[in-house]
Amino acid sequence: HTDPAQYVRSAIRSVPDWPKPGVTFRDITPVLQDPRSFRVLVDLFVYRYMQQKLDLVAGVDARGFILGSVLAYELNLGFVPVRKKGKLPFRTVAEEYSLEYGNSSVEMHADSVRPGQRVLLIDDLIATGGTMMAASKLLQRLGANVIEAAAIIDLPDLGGAQAIRDSGLPVYTVCQFT
Ligand code: PRP
Ligand code: HPA
Repeated sequence: HTDPAQYVRSAIRSVPDWPKPGVTFRDITPVLQDPRSFRVLVDLFVYRYMQQKLDLVAGVDARGFILGSVLAYELNLGFVPVRKKGKLPFRTVAEEYSLEYGNSSVEMHADSVRPGQRVLLIDDLIATGGTMMAASKLLQRLGANVIEAAAIIDLPDLGGAQAIRDSGLPVYTVCQFT
C-alpha cells in the first residue's frame, strides 16, 4: 500500500451479523492494535488539522475518545469529552437525538468550551449521523465554532455524512464502507 487511507481501511475488520443479524460491524480495534496502522491513522488527522488553528478537540463517547485524545495531544490542544447521559459529574448540558428505536442523548460539561473556540469534533464512525449532529448542536449551544466533523469511517448508504454537510458542517472521513 502507498495510499495511507487505503492502508488504514485495509486494517478495519468487518464482522458479519453483529450486533444483530444482517448488520456488518466495522471494527477499528485491529487498526489500533497494529502500531503501524495506528500511526498512519493518527498522522492523517495531524496533517489535516495542524495548520487549522484549532483550540480544542471534542471526542464522542466511547471510541471517539481514543483517536480524539491522541490527536489533541499531538496538536497541542485540549480535549473535551462528549459523553453518554449521566456520566459527567459537574453542571451539564444535554442534547437528545433519535435512534432506530427510542431516543438517546449526549452531554457535555457546561464549562468545557469558551465562546468562539475553534473545535474539531471527532468520532470513529458516521452511520445515521445522529450522534455527530447532536454533539455539534451541543457544542454550538456552548458557543463553539465547530470547524469540522471527522471520523475514520463513513457508511454512505445511511446518509449521515450527507445530512451533516447539509446542515452546514464540513465532514472528513478517512474511508467508506458500502
Ligand atoms: C457508534 C459509533 C458512533 C455512533 C454512530 O457508537 O461509535 O458514536 O454509533 O452512529 P450514528 O451516526 O447513527 O449516530 P455506539 O452508539 O455504538 O456507542 P459506543 O461507542 O459507546 O459503543
Ligand atoms: N461499527 C462501529 N460502530 C457502528 C457501526 C459499525 O459498523 N454501525 C453503527 N455504529
